[in-house]
Amino acid sequence: MFDQKELRRDPVPAEQAENRSMSALNPNISRRDFIKGVICSGATVAAAGYMLQGGQALAAASGTVERLVSLNVNGQVRRVDVLPNETLAMTLRYKLGLTGVKLSCDRAECGACTVLLDDMDFYSCSMLTHSVRNRKIITVEGLSSPSGKLHPVQQAFVDELGPQCGFCTPGQVLSAVALLKVNPKPTREEAALAMSGNLCRCGAYDHYLKAIMRVAGGV
Ligand code: FES
Ligand code: FES
Repeated sequence: MFDQKELRRDPVPAEQAENRSMSALNPNISRRDFIKGVICSGATVAAAGYMLQGGQALAAASGTVERLVSLNVNGQVRRVDVLPNETLAMTLRYKLGLTGVKLSCDRAECGACTVLLDDMDFYSCSMLTHSVRNRKIITVEGLSSPSGKLHPVQQAFVDELGPQCGFCTPGQVLSAVALLKVNPKPTREEAALAMSGNLCRCGAYDHYLKAIMRVAGGV
């Protein structure tokens, strides 16, 4: 198994994506409500197309034999049929319905598919599901408490109005959680370096960093 962090690249210069507020699309949804939604469940409008493509990809690969495996996901044992060459991202997103796991580059470059394995952040698009059967897997859906209380990092992302479109946000949240687990008081530079494997097309890097520093400083 290789170290996923070694495959990470520095963020590309941020492009300014169209920043239409959700309230303009639906007056009943505030921007803060939208942010809470993407931070807790990763649900974004963009997910629908990926769901379709992923399902087709799995169907195309159905010539191989699936095996039933047990995975420890978000504190529960989930039993699922898995292809020999199936990535963890595909299993989590398309078979277990955890749509907070995004698929974008599908080759360990963007961080959208980030999950925690035994509290460390990894690119799930570049790990075979069979290889993580004995690991503790956490997706963004498993971060908040059973009562619905947000994880401090999630709450800080809300407070700093972090996400724009929200597509990269679940991965950003999980990488921030992993960082603060090993380094609870990072400098801004350390935080930026730790987050450099998570790209954000909307360029919300500064908001995310402010959120991390808010948690680190107990603000
Ligand atoms: S989808 Fe996994 S790193 Fe981009
Ligand atoms: S908030 Fe849109 S890609 Fe990061």
